[in-house]
Amino acid sequence: MAKVEVALNSIPEGKNVIIKWRGKPIFIRHRTSDEIAEANNVKVSSLRDPQTDEERAKKPEWLVMIGVCTHLGCVPIGEAGDYGGWFCPCHGSHYDISGRIRKGPAPLNLEIPAYDFPNEETLVIG
Ligand code: FES
Repeated sequence: MAKVEVALNSIPEGKNVIIKWRGKPIFIRHRTSDEIAEANNVKVSSLRDPQTDEERAKKPEWLVMIGVCTHLGCVPIGEAGDYGGWFCPCHGSHYDISGRIRKGPAPLNLEIPAYDFPNEETLVIG
């Protein structure tokens, strides 16, 4: 499988980057400490697709997700929606700063691809 390498120092804190991997958009967010705290402050049992932030991010400052809405496959917009994360304009799904579905028709959280950090400066998707 093709892997894609991303230089992490090219993504400032508080910013989103979108890259392509296997024809799909991959969302990478360099989260701030406030965002990480917010992601951890959610009552997991209240979620439609209950997942802790820890289960979703290997390193809390880096959130890596497949940018495809789990409803019908549109590409959500970053830094949008009612939960400080992503908003899918197709039918109004709101995802939080951990990419978890919070409101709207999508059944599941944004999917996490296989990825790794071979060193401090590099992310490899795939
Ligand atoms: Fe995203 Fe329907 S495809 S809300």
